[in-house]
Formats: sequence, C-alpha cells, structure tokens
Amino acid sequence: MRWRLINRKSQNGLNSLLCTGKLSPMIKAIFFGSLLFALNLSAADTAIYHDGWIDLNKNGKRDVYEDPAQPVSRRTADLLKRMTLDEKIGQLWQPAMVGDSDKTLAAKLRNGGVGSFLGGGALIETPVMRNKLQHIAVDQSRLGIPLIFGHDVIHGFRTTFPIPLAAACAWDPELFERAQTIAAREGAAAGIDWTFAPMTDLARDPRWGRIAEGFGEDPWLDSLYTAAGVRGFQGTNVADPDRLVACLKHYVGYGAAEGGRDYNTTEISEFTLRNFYLPPFKAGVDAGAWTVMSALNSLSGMPATANHHTLTDILRDEWHFPGLVVSDYDAVNELISHGVAADEPTAARLALTAGVDMEMVSTNYPDTLAQQVKAGKIPKKVLDEAVRRVLTVKFEKGLFEHPYTDESRCQTAFLHPDAIALAREAVAKSCVLLKNQGGALPLNGQIKKLALIGPLADDAGELVGSWYSCAHASNIVSLASGIRAKLPTDAQLTVLRGCFITEPGTRPARRLNDFAPVAGPPTGSNEIAEAVAAAQSADAVILALGEPGDWCGEDASRSTLGLPGRQQELFDAVAATGKPVIVVLFNGRPLALPEVQDRAAAILEAWFPGVQGGNGVADVLFGDVDPSGRLTTTFPRNIGQVPMYYNHDNTGRPGVGDYRGNHIDGPDTPLYPFGFGLAYTTFEFGGVKLDAPALKRDGTLVAHTEIKNTGQRAGTAVVQLYLRALAATAGPRPVRELKGFQKVQLQPGESRDVSFTLSGRELGYYDTTGHWLVEPGKYQLWLAKDSASGQPADFELVK
Ligand code: NOJ
Repeated sequence: MRWRLINRKSQNGLNSLLCTGKLSPMIKAIFFGSLLFALNLSAADTAIYHDGWIDLNKNGKRDVYEDPAQPVSRRTADLLKRMTLDEKIGQLWQPAMVGDSDKTLAAKLRNGGVGSFLGGGALIETPVMRNKLQHIAVDQSRLGIPLIFGHDVIHGFRTTFPIPLAAACAWDPELFERAQTIAAREGAAAGIDWTFAPMTDLARDPRWGRIAEGFGEDPWLDSLYTAAGVRGFQGTNVADPDRLVACLKHYVGYGAAEGGRDYNTTEISEFTLRNFYLPPFKAGVDAGAWTVMSALNSLSGMPATANHHTLTDILRDEWHFPGLVVSDYDAVNELISHGVAADEPTAARLALTAGVDMEMVSTNYPDTLAQQVKAGKIPKKVLDEAVRRVLTVKFEKGLFEHPYTDESRCQTAFLHPDAIALAREAVAKSCVLLKNQGGALPLNGQIKKLALIGPLADDAGELVGSWYSCAHASNIVSLASGIRAKLPTDAQLTVLRGCFITEPGTRPARRLNDFAPVAGPPTGSNEIAEAVAAAQSADAVILALGEPGDWCGEDASRSTLGLPGRQQELFDAVAATGKPVIVVLFNGRPLALPEVQDRAAAILEAWFPGVQGGNGVADVLFGDVDPSGRLTTTFPRNIGQVPMYYNHDNTGRPGVGDYRGNHIDGPDTPLYPFGFGLAYTTFEFGGVKLDAPALKRDGTLVAHTEIKNTGQRAGTAVVQLYLRALAATAGPRPVRELKGFQKVQLQPGESRDVSFTLSGRELGYYDTTGHWLVEPGKYQLWLAKDSASGQPADFELVK
C-alpha cells in the first residue's frame, strides 16, 4: 500500500469502503499496518523530547522557536529565519489524507514539504495514522515543524447534532456553542486540530444545497451563531487538547450562487456585500477565529480565491485578521477554469498575492512557487508573510509542544451521556411547528393505535443529513424508535415505508459508517395502498416525509422544492382518508409544500436532526417539550418566488396592486415567513411602547411590549425586535432588519412586560467603504412574533 495524491472521487471511494463497514476490523488493521510499513515509520526518537519542550531541530539546545516561554511572534520570526525556500513553501500546502500510495509522500514529510493534511473517513476515527504522520514530520524532518490536521466537523463528530440551519431555528446561540464544544472534544480526541466550520455564508436561495450548513438569511442572527460557533470550537484557549481551530467559510459570497447552483458565479454589490454577506465573517474574526477559507465562487467579476479586495483590503487591512487563509478544495487550481489564470504558476501567484496562505489539495503552490520567488515574480516578503501566518496558527494551537494526540482518549470520548442529552435537547429546540389545526399535536401519551408512515419513518441513516463526519448508523435513533419509547407497552405502532424516498433505483447507498439501508428499493407490493389501510384503522397518523440526507450540503442543488419520489402521492392518498394527518418533515432546505399546508392537520419541521433525531422529535410530538423553534429562512410557496427573503429592499413600487412588479399568476407572500413558528399554546402580543420619541446617537431607547399566554399550556414566546430606517443616505435599508430577540417562558394566563434597550449605534449600517453610518432621521421598530406581523412604533434618531 502506498500513498498518492488523489482527486475527490477516489477519496470518496476509499472512504466509502472504510466507512460502510465493508472492510472487517482485521482487514482494516492490515490496511493500516501495510500503510505504516510503506511509510517506513520508525519509533519516535525520544532524545528530542524534553520536559515542556521539544528539540525540534535536533541540535541539542532550546532555540527560541522551541521555547514555549517566548511570545509567538518571536518564535515565528526565529523559525522563519531558519527555513529554506522549499521548507517555507511546504508549510503552504495541504494535501488530502487518504490511504493509497506514493512513497514520495513520506519523503516530502521528511523534507518539510507538507504543512497540513485534510482528513476524512475512517482514517480519522482514531489518531493512530495522524500520530504516525506527525512523528515523521517532527522526528525526521530538519526543523521538526508539526503538521496541522484539518477535517470538516460541521454539526458533530460522532455525536451528530442538528444541521446548522436547524440549530439556528432554536434561536439559542449558547446551545449551539455548547454543541460545538462537544463536537470539538470528540474531534480533537480523534486527532483533529482544525475544523472547517462554522459555515458563515448567508443564504437566500433554498435551491442551494449548502443552505443546510449555514444559519439562514439574517446577517445579525448569522453573526451571533458564527461567533458562538467559533467560541464553541476554540474556547478561551485554542491550545487546549479538547479544542479545535475554527475556520470561517466560504469567504465570501458563496451563498449567492446564481440559480442556486453550487460553485456558481455571484454578483453582489459592494453595498450588499458590506451589509449582508460580510458582517457574519467580521463577527467570526472578532470572536477570534484563527482561520478563514476562500470560496470557490467568482464574486462580482473576480474569483474569491484571487480576490485581493476581499482577502487583503477588507480581511487584513480593515479587520486586522491575524490568522491564516486556506483555499477551498482545489480552488487555487480552479482559477484556471474560472478563466483568470492561464496556467498553474499564474494561478498560484494570483491566489498568494491576493491573500490565500495555504492551498488545499491542488499543487500549484508546491509545484510553482519556488521558481517564481527565485525569478522575482513573487516578492519574498509575500511568501514569508503567508508562512508566518501558518506558523502562527500552529504555535497558537500548541502543536510545537503537543504535536501528538493521546490515542487512548478516543476510546472513551465519543457519545458521552452529556453529549447525547445535549443532542436530544438541541433536536427538540430546533423543531419548528408550522401548523397545528384543532390541537392535533401534542399526541396523547395514552394513544392505543398509531400509524407511522413514510420513507423517513424508520430510516435512521438519513437523519444526520450531510457532513455527518464520523457518524455511525447504529448510534442514530430513528423516529420509529423515538416514538416507540414514548408509547405505553400495550399501544400498537404500525410502521410502514409507504414509498421509496426518491425515484426507485436512483440512489446509491450512503457512505455512513455501518450503514444498513432500511429504505431499500421497491418491495413489489402496493405500498401506498398498504399505508392507506394502516391509516384508516389507526387512532392517529404521522407521516414522516422529506429529503434524502445527501440532498443537501455540497453539490446538492435542486431545481424543484417539492417532496422527492412519490411522497406527495403518498401524502395525498393518506390525507384522502379524512384522518387528521400529522406531518414530520426531515429536510435540509425550505421546501415549497402548499398542498401539505392546506391538507395536513399538523406540520412539524424537524430538519436533519442528527443522532438523537427520533428521541428529540418524539419529545415535541408528545408534548414533553413545547415547540419553541422559529424559522430563520423563508419558506416560499413555489420555486418561482425564489429568492424570497424577509429583509429585502422596499423598491420604488412596493405593495400589492398593478404596476408593483408582483407575479401575476400567484400570491406574493411566502408560505411561512422568517421568524415564524407556533407553540402548543397561543400568545397575544401587545402594542410597542417606547420610553421616548427620540434617541441620541450615543444614547439608548427602551421598547416594551406586553406578551400574554392566552392558551392552556405553558410555552415559550420568541419576541423579535425588527427595525427599519426610512431614509438612509448611502443606500436603502431593508423593510425590516432583526436586531434583537428574547425567549420568554409563560404559564397559561401569565402576562409579562418584555423590554429591549436599543443603543443609537445599533441603528447603523455600512457604506461601500466599510464605514459604519449612524444617521439621524426616522425609524420604525417592531416587537413581533415573526417578520410578517405586528405594528411598528415610530421614533427618531437625533444628533
Ligand atoms: C469543499 C467544501 O466546499 C468545503 O466546505 C470543505 O471544507 C472542503 N471541501 C474540505 O472538505
């Protein structure tokens, strides 16, 4: 077995083989063993390891860069001085870590030719391979510079939490921070140092599969979640062995892909970039994120990976970002396909001089930089600066003192009870109740005969969605299992698939660890008729519908927003029985389901909830947890309305009627607006009262409203504060902008005065040069239950 650099298809093939359990543990052992043998690993040279420091350059003394008592800037400068040109360039390259071939890789490590690895699949479930590679780099290379190992820990490592879009619907950044702390703990135990998360991209288009990985369409909420994600991964000391270096991605504008097609061109005005797409990145930088990933898309005429304006003028010069920028996968080489670089040397030069420090996977940096620096085409200063940033992150991560991961930790680090409990809580809190007619929910716990129908009724594997990292199918609780655990022992639960999740025969098995497909190909029987019969004889009917888990995430754009396969037909047939149908949706994007909205008794949006999906959703269905999730992305009625988002401009011809620019063949409102979500109780929102009609730029204003629980159950109201500036000199402000929220728990009949203190500074916005303008003038303020309801109060900002 040898190592080689691979393209993504072969990486997936290998990961698939290792993850699906198709290789027995014995074969895996042989596989790894032969790999290690091929790498010619020798036992660690213990002579270089001292108490508290490592003699990395093996010269018998503690040099400045080896001395943890020295400031990072001095250590970096000292190390940089000692490096050859080739060693410097080595730090700027991150190949994918896969097991196959190439003796030259071990030689590259010994020569300091690799700075980092992108890990994936079963190779990273334990730190064994990582530590072996690290030993080559530390023990056998001249300067002993440690490698840094990266992997996408997006919503959990082994304990998979709800997808980020779902997490945002909990309106609970602190909960998200705790989830990412656990994700970091598990990932770090497996030997990962660096995660490519949080994905900070604002998304307004549900066709784009990666909408699942972000926090929705609001820049303010996105900023809160981004900062929480950074804190969750990095903690207060990123060098802590339980922490991961965070990476803000994809910088920038990736979420605005034309037609919702992944990797596609984006055109974003500087004004919109500054006010919508950049603020969440800025929040992540301010929260201390150590890395940023340059995006694959072209942004307003220049690929993001060669975009000096965003990577240097803004990120470095305006925001003073001190960490490293890594390109996305192959993004440097793709500058050729974009049509801005004629060849590899040009691609490398454009990316490096724009501000990309490390190249992920493609080899334009290692192949061409040395010659270009020698020829004076790239200033040595630019190269040194990139190397300095990479080394800074490695020093900050503590890799120079602690290059190895304790191999015993991963035996006990995964799926701890606290992780499982948090995952369950996160699922229940991210569910959004979209409809509940006649109190169809919550279910009565004493129910005797329940029919659970649908392709996602008992299919655990799909529930982790995309980017499931190292999830194992056997750790995932399906909806059927979650519901069964809630029912009395004498209750009858009939579980039927009803139909295949997509068109039969169109889907390969997932690459999930130990995946066993529950929802296989057609059974040959009339599954829809069987489902109808089961529904007819049941006391209550739940339909578990939605998308396959890998229909969201990277390269998973859709051109329709309905239910895949025959699921709509299944819904129609079951609804035609006249039984009240409760629909549970598992999906990674807003779906356009007006017929389901019309005919279902209840709809619970459960997203892709992760390993505790079945339990957390059952907690909500049976009323053990009141639904408190609210949408952070607009649900359109049909795909023709897309893009549809709440924080749009007013235009010169707003509203209903002729010559207003509305569609002539359908409504102009969304199916469910941003901020929408029901509880099992009802709330009355009073009017908005302000403590003054005006505030000063450096002053504050208090806004109140009275919220009353008018129903029969306790519940949580999510009070949302929206603002509008009526006249802004640098460009129009949206019809509403979220600027605050509070989650208020109320007992039946209880009222509460809820107040928000707003500072003048919060009324500002960016001009096209990045200045924050706080302008005198007229404003409106809502305290509402969603972005489409409530009456505003008027006030003025005065000098
Ligand atoms: C490509 C994806 O766009 C990015 O999000 C991810 O971090 C890298 N691949 C590495 O897996």
